[in-house]
Amino acid sequence: MKWAILSDVHGNLEAFQAVLKDLDTEKPEKIAFLGDAVGYGADPNECLAILRDLTDWVVAGNHDYGAVGLTDIEVFNPPARSAILWTRERLSEDNQAYLRRQLLRRQNGDTAFVHATPNQPEEWYYLFTFPEAEEAFQSLSGDLAFVGHSHRPLILAKEGTLGVEACPPEEIVLRPRVRYIINVGSVGQPRDGRPEAAYGIYDDAEKRYLLKRVPYDVATTQKKIIHAGLPPFLAQRLSQGI
Ligand SMILES: [Fe+2]
Repeated sequence: MKWAILSDVHGNLEAFQAVLKDLDTEKPEKIAFLGDAVGYGADPNECLAILRDLTDWVVAGNHDYGAVGLTDIEVFNPPARSAILWTRERLSEDNQAYLRRQLLRRQNGDTAFVHATPNQPEEWYYLFTFPEAEEAFQSLSGDLAFVGHSHRPLILAKEGTLGVEACPPEEIVLRPRVRYIINVGSVGQPRDGRPEAAYGIYDDAEKRYLLKRVPYDVATTQKKIIHAGLPPFLAQRLSQGI
């Protein structure tokens, strides 16, 4: 089955729409969303309307839970926190209820879908260092986990008791008896130095994974963020992919 795996839309309607257009060409049979539909961007309700139509294979991210009071936003950095407070005031009641219903983890056979780490998704840990990756693999029950959260595409591989290996994040054919954690990057706020929206395509029969990049109208998104009175940094960072 061909999957499209999207994460971290963050209320960026233009990026989300550009990815939807790309999905028309890719024609995935199933679409997974790894959380953070809202926060940072100026169109949280519009993005949720699209997401709710698109798929029910959804997990919640820290910004989704933060927007509805299910996780502590005191640990968020100041622009993230002010964007969440802005979002909280604007989310429709129906969308608030929708976000509250979302789980933190989904499992399809050997494959886990989470926002942060597969072992303790509720802690919102990041996977940046090799010790963090080793710990995540230790409690990964299946062969494969798709994650988001850091907004940086990443493929980590672990074979038996060997150390964790970081592979080029753009494309891979998964090897047998090797376990993988794959970060599909972010649709709405990439942080790997490139502004194009990112998402993953995975064929679970061929075990082939591909990271896609989709250009979108960054300038319009930036204008909306400024007009909304959100922190200007949240607009600036989009053209740099930081
Ligand atoms: Fe995020």
